[in-house]
Amino acid sequence: MKVHHVGYLVKRLARSEEAFVRLGYKIEREVCYDHVRDVNISFLKNGSERVELIEPASKGSPLYPLLKNYKNSPYHICYFSDDLEADRKSLEADGFMVIQDTQIAPALDGRNVIFMVSADIGIIELVETAEGGSDF
Ligand code: NI
Repeated sequence: MKVHHVGYLVKRLARSEEAFVRLGYKIEREVCYDHVRDVNISFLKNGSERVELIEPASKGSPLYPLLKNYKNSPYHICYFSDDLEADRKSLEADGFMVIQDTQIAPALDGRNVIFMVSADIGIIELVETAEGGSDF
C-alpha cells in the first residue's frame, strides 16, 4: 500500500513545525482544526515524504491520553485506499481491528479515513485516494 503520511503526535505543534522546517521540511498545509477529534493538524513535506503533526487541542481530545505514550513521536502510518471497505475487510481478515470506524477528516479535504490496529505493527490509517490524481 502506498504511504500518504507518517502521523506524529506532538505536544506543541508550532514548535514541532519549526523543528521540522529546520530539518528541511516545507509546510504543505497550514494548521487545520479537526472538530471530529479535537486536534490541530498540519502537513509538512520533505521531498516525497509527508508528515502529519497532530496536537490535541484540549484535555478532552480523544488523542490527549496518547500523549503519555507518544509525546512528540510517530504513532501511525497512513496509506492511500482506493476502496476503504474492501481494504478494511482484507485487513480485518489479516488480523487488524478497527479502532475508529469511517469518519471524515477535515484536514484531508473531508475525505473518509479509518483507523485500525494490529498487534504486530500498531496503528494504521487508511485515507480515500483523492479524486483527480492529486497525491495529497
Ligand atoms: Ni494521519
